[in-house]
Amino acid sequence: MSDSVTMEKLVSLCKRRGFIFQSSEIYGGLASAWDYGPLGSALKNRLQSFWLREMTQLHENIVGLDTAIMMHPRVWEASGHVENFTDPLVDCKNCKRRFRADQIPDENLKDKKCPECGGELTEPRNFNLMFKTHIGPLEDDGSIVFLRPETAQGIYVNFRNILQSTRQKIPFGIAQVGKAFRNEITTKNFIFRTCEFEQMEMQYFVHPSQDKKWFDYWKNERIQYYYKLGVRKNKLRFSQHGPDELAHYAKEAFDIQYEFPFGWQELEGIHNRTDYDLKRHTEFSNKDMSYLDEITKERYVPYIIETSAGLNRSLLMVLSDAYDEETVEGETRVVMRLHPRLAPVTAGVFPLVKKDGLAEKARVIAETLKEEFNIFYDQGGAIGRRYRRQDEIGTPFCVTIDYDTKDDDTVTLRYRDSMQQVRVNVGNLAQRIADEIKAYKRTGE
Ligand code: GAP
Repeated sequence: MSDSVTMEKLVSLCKRRGFIFQSSEIYGGLASAWDYGPLGSALKNRLQSFWLREMTQLHENIVGLDTAIMMHPRVWEASGHVENFTDPLVDCKNCKRRFRADQIPDENLKDKKCPECGGELTEPRNFNLMFKTHIGPLEDDGSIVFLRPETAQGIYVNFRNILQSTRQKIPFGIAQVGKAFRNEITTKNFIFRTCEFEQMEMQYFVHPSQDKKWFDYWKNERIQYYYKLGVRKNKLRFSQHGPDELAHYAKEAFDIQYEFPFGWQELEGIHNRTDYDLKRHTEFSNKDMSYLDEITKERYVPYIIETSAGLNRSLLMVLSDAYDEETVEGETRVVMRLHPRLAPVTAGVFPLVKKDGLAEKARVIAETLKEEFNIFYDQGGAIGRRYRRQDEIGTPFCVTIDYDTKDDDTVTLRYRDSMQQVRVNVGNLAQRIADEIKAYKRTGE
């Protein structure tokens, strides 16, 4: 398959077909804030469900959790975010542009020269990425709260609650999906880096002597997950963090990167956070965060292996990876090769023509299929155009009801990827679609 995707084409398709809109567009937009339209929100929900299914349904020792965005301010002192969650910032005195000091060429930093206009740069200063706000009517120091910059801390502070309420034994995991906020200095590339985003994080609690084993296990599990999503293997790779790149809590870290239209970039981080977080919360809260192994009678503070993926970034990956163009009968066909489990619409149902009872018959079939799948019913326009509109939003199957349907109760099932068509008995249609979804393999890799 061709690699025809560009950010321009993707952004345009997302807007045209209702995947993603600029936030507050009628007011000129808010920088790097985006709204998810009917198809985008459906796709995002499916991606989130796919991740949760993978983590909690397929691992019986991983439980789900949904914690508050605003937490006690001491959480962020304990986690190290108040002290360490900073980016070095420089400003150009001339053009007033703002840069992350670690993202501009070394010589510019050394010569204090703006990479855009050549003007003088300020000294780097550390800028904390957490958004601050106040609870209650008084905006004083006692009312400060932060919008969480990661969902992980909500999991750590509930470690004891989960142990007591679920009776999990180590090793076990806690997974959650939720919003996180960072006052990013540079936001760009559509939904890739934004100030408000969603994370899908899983924290796996292990015996300290087993950290390497579980780190390697999760590294492998996570890359397999992306293969299951139908993402092309040659677009995914690992990248290890060097000693000076490691976050303040990490002993070892790998990113899973994807080759976006703007280059290889981080999609997910896999971190060995050691006992840093639980020990810090013990220290700051005076609550014991250790674990007692009832068999060996050993008491210890578990190590944590974390897998942390961005939901919006995963969505951008899925969209970029799915986008394809090919020439069919002299025309360009835009097709989103989304995995059928993710596609916002599973099947389009079309009567060949509106008359002669075909529309009524198609309606009945659509109603039946709706019980199990997301269906789009469309009876207007040439059938070829109706197929193309579904191809462009990634609908994997189309069902066409024609004159033969009236005689033999069969319909045409048309496949998005190959455009092949087969006849299927109406009674077998739902099962056939379910089987096809299960067996789906992306072609043309
Ligand atoms: N709890 C660990 C943690 O938060 P991270 O590497 O800072 O680690 C994890 O973030 C993931 O969250 C990233 O791999 C990325 O997918 C997503 N992410 C982080 N900052 C983001 C931003 N500003 N916009 C969108 N996604 C972001």
